[in-house]
Amino acid sequence: MFPVRLTLDPAFRVGPVRRRTFGSFVEHLGRCVYTGIHDPAHPTADADGFRKDVLELTRELGVSTVRYPGGNFVSGYRWEDGVGPVEQRPARRDLAWHSLEPNTVGVDEFMRWADLAGVEPMMAVNLGTRGVQEALDLLEYCNGGAGTLYADQRRANGAADPYDIRMWCLGNEMDGPWQIGSKTAYEYGRLAAETGRAMRMVDPGLELVACGSSGVVMPTFGEWERIVLTEAYQQVDYVSAHAYYWEEDGDLGSFLASATDMDHFVEAVTATADAVRAHKKVDKRIHISFDEWNVWYQKRAESKPPTGDDWPVAPVLLEDRYNVADAVVVGNLLISLLRHTDRVHAASLAQLVNVIAPIMTEPGGRSWKQTIFHPFAQASRHAVGDVLQVAIDAPTYETARYGDAALVDAVATRDPETGATTLFAVNRSLTEPALLEVDARALPGLRVLDATTLANPDHTWSATADDDTSVAPRPNTTAEVRDGRLTVQVPPVSWNVVRLGA
Ligand code: AHR
Repeated sequence: MFPVRLTLDPAFRVGPVRRRTFGSFVEHLGRCVYTGIHDPAHPTADADGFRKDVLELTRELGVSTVRYPGGNFVSGYRWEDGVGPVEQRPARRDLAWHSLEPNTVGVDEFMRWADLAGVEPMMAVNLGTRGVQEALDLLEYCNGGAGTLYADQRRANGAADPYDIRMWCLGNEMDGPWQIGSKTAYEYGRLAAETGRAMRMVDPGLELVACGSSGVVMPTFGEWERIVLTEAYQQVDYVSAHAYYWEEDGDLGSFLASATDMDHFVEAVTATADAVRAHKKVDKRIHISFDEWNVWYQKRAESKPPTGDDWPVAPVLLEDRYNVADAVVVGNLLISLLRHTDRVHAASLAQLVNVIAPIMTEPGGRSWKQTIFHPFAQASRHAVGDVLQVAIDAPTYETARYGDAALVDAVATRDPETGATTLFAVNRSLTEPALLEVDARALPGLRVLDATTLANPDHTWSATADDDTSVAPRPNTTAEVRDGRLTVQVPPVSWNVVRLGA
């Protein structure tokens, strides 16, 4: 067992816990929508065809916002196809995922689902094959009052009141050569600026997200953000970040340090946005919407879209099975997002159901939780109040991908009203338990409310529909506070949550 010294102090406040950090994503991709959230033949389906079991799991997961309808899908999407009488809606080829889109679910259905799930919608507009006009039309359809063409269409389609969607994504991954209608940074920056300017002529209070990079690995990373923000700084509030290249490819040590890469991503984008700000001599700051992140095994067969003449509806795509090590990494990525709460103002775990997802479903059958469900649900439930940076004095280990990394990573939150404090920590060691010795004397009177650990002697254990409970967060009975010092033992490859009360 190796000792790690940590210090908790309310003076290390980074900023508030933002509910939007716990967002997710529903794309018309594979079985996320069809047989995921929507399955009219399912025994729990409501009158709209929404699975109540999935709604329940979505609420349990603690999701705050849901981005919709894509993803790569949005860059070829005509939103008009998905509104009005279902039997009159056209089927179309979705080029992004080589699938057939029946348009059974569209904006109105999604908004009804979001209402039932209790989540805030984050709507994306198509800036791949479309432009300013179609974005304005969708805005009018969603948020317009009575008396204009599209607002009246929405009313006729059953939604009398405007949806009042606040957050809008101006396209998706426009830096990616795989994107339909991808653009250079300058082309996209101009289009984002003009789309944002026009949308704000309708409603100056909209919160707009410009596309940032699809990863630090993109050859245009950094320069993309600089150019896009130079063009669109005044018209947007956020720049997005997407990252998926964290996967275990035989080097578990590097994989467990993936959050250091997310730290680097956020800090590099922040620096670039602030450099543009300095150059423009303005007060306004741009924040980050990390609106696609997860572990994703992109090289596996299940990530390959159909080819040739095969254009199936809702094929099995990107249905990764996550193990315990994946859950530890997801927990660590949440630690990274929280620790950057001063600049990361929104984030979306991609995706919600079936497609690289915490929730899985069988068509017409069972739904179940993947291992990554647990750290997300726990962080969403217990991160309350302020985020506190934790001072960590931990041994380091060498990784092939990210250089030296600390064996333990952690962040804390504290509710200033109640004094309730939660420590979130991971042990990245492959073999050794760690003894966390936490100096909490700056927070007098704390006692342990509960402590849980997610770990397993076999870190490759994955949940299935038959068994999604035998490995889950379990009570950690080693946690105790004495004289303002918390000690807790955490096993190798583990995600840990210690809740302290005043
Ligand atoms: O989430 C899966 C895909 O990953 C999204 O459609 C796209 O935006 C990203 O490349």
